[in-house]
Amino acid sequence: MKKIRFVTSEAAPLAKTGGLADVCGTLPLILNQQNYNTSIIMPWYKNLEAKKIDRSIVRLGNEPRYAIYGKTTINGVDVILIKDQQFFNREEYYGTDDGPYPDNDRRFIFFSRAAVQYISKHDSSAVVHAHDWFTGLVPLYLRSRYKRSRFRSVFTIHNLQHQGIFPASSFYLSNLPAYRFSPRWTEFYGNLNLMKAGITAADRLTTVSPTYAEEIQTQQFGEGLEGVIREENKKLTGIINGIDTEIWNSETDPYLEEDEQFSASDISGKKRLKSNLLQEYGLKNGSDLPLIGTVSRLAQQKGIDMLLDMRQELSRLPARWIFLGTGEPELEAGLKQWEREFPDRVRAVIDFDEKLAHRIVAASDIYCMPSRFEPCGLNQLYCAQYGTVPVVHRTGGLADTVADFDESDQNQATGFSFKNLSPENLKKKIEQAVNLYDSKPATWKQLQQNGFERDFSWKKSANQYAKIYDSLVEEMK
Ligand code: ADP
Ligand code: GLC
Repeated sequence: MKKIRFVTSEAAPLAKTGGLADVCGTLPLILNQQNYNTSIIMPWYKNLEAKKIDRSIVRLGNEPRYAIYGKTTINGVDVILIKDQQFFNREEYYGTDDGPYPDNDRRFIFFSRAAVQYISKHDSSAVVHAHDWFTGLVPLYLRSRYKRSRFRSVFTIHNLQHQGIFPASSFYLSNLPAYRFSPRWTEFYGNLNLMKAGITAADRLTTVSPTYAEEIQTQQFGEGLEGVIREENKKLTGIINGIDTEIWNSETDPYLEEDEQFSASDISGKKRLKSNLLQEYGLKNGSDLPLIGTVSRLAQQKGIDMLLDMRQELSRLPARWIFLGTGEPELEAGLKQWEREFPDRVRAVIDFDEKLAHRIVAASDIYCMPSRFEPCGLNQLYCAQYGTVPVVHRTGGLADTVADFDESDQNQATGFSFKNLSPENLKKKIEQAVNLYDSKPATWKQLQQNGFERDFSWKKSANQYAKIYDSLVEEMK
């Protein structure tokens, strides 16, 4: 069995703020159905239960700190949790409304180092797969301190916008030799950049869709790292995320009542669900109109501000809207304002609610996702499982997974996507979707069926990761 260690800051259902958790919670399970022994290493956040199994001293600059290791499982996959007295026992994972925790450099340098120490103690060899900036130092520690015949690393960029940039003075916390603080490795315009560490030090680099893999090499999407990524592009692959088709499944979804579940061949349950949801949220008289849903982190990335800017016009459409999200205070306030202005048409739920997320994705007729950029995006994939038709900006993973009605064969199209990001283009596509829903039920049904027929399960993508792991195992021999 080949040993794979995932090192991540979140994994569902133990800790989740976004898609990173879905990926790290599911992919290991799929790999373990093949010839791999995959486990997950993540921080021991507040309220997580685990059995203590080990401890060690981890140096953070001059300071020795105590790491306590615990063990639990997610669906049979081993999870090693790393505790520190001060770093992870907090209300939030990364920060509060006031901003990121000021000691995030210490927290995640400590976590990365403690994870590597654990691996080196327990594994004679392994492929270590680290995710996003939080774990960017993992590949560099492995490369710097251990024999190349023992450890190789994969680093996955889930979102290049967040890079873990800290003052140069934070570098000493890593206890790495001074030459690692250079433009070749971790230095970025005079600062320490942990994402860059992962990109430069890993043996293989992946990101979560083929289109995003191209985009991040350009100035428009590269967030300043495009040059570095171009340098490293021989080791870069774009692999689209899969989804957990047991949890996101219209026939068995545990968050739907039994008579609200449905299949591709009989979607009557979807109608019941929609009418229940409209009732529950006080959106009366809406059953015959399309329901437009969105479940999202409320961040600039997601483009919700464009909907807010056009809310007067959008509210005139014969449709009902429901939003679920948390995030930037202005966006939360904006959605609440829209709801107050059009209380019979718009509901904005400011919360993080797994059950409601499922119910909105499943009940909606149209799903709106106008992201400015989207490395992969999972909700448009979930939508395909429920006959929910997405309207998206054609970028990143959205470009790779949604086939536009105007530009695809009728038996291929799964939604609506527009190329040039502008409020006008977004509005046009939403109007087109609403009109089609209303005027051409048979064509609409075809779009839904095309979605149902897509296979977004992990199978294909897990095989792509497996190939990468296998090639690294070969190199270690
Ligand atoms: P990102 O990781 O950029 O937030 P993704 O589309 O990859 O975007 O994944 C988002 C995940 O988080 C999805 O599983 C989505 O359902 C979930 N999610 C986002 N906001 C909420 C919320 N307010 N309540 C419940 N789930 C949410
Ligand atoms: C990031 C991206 C999202 C992607 C997710 C999981 O949070 O914003 O597009 O689906 O990671 O890879």
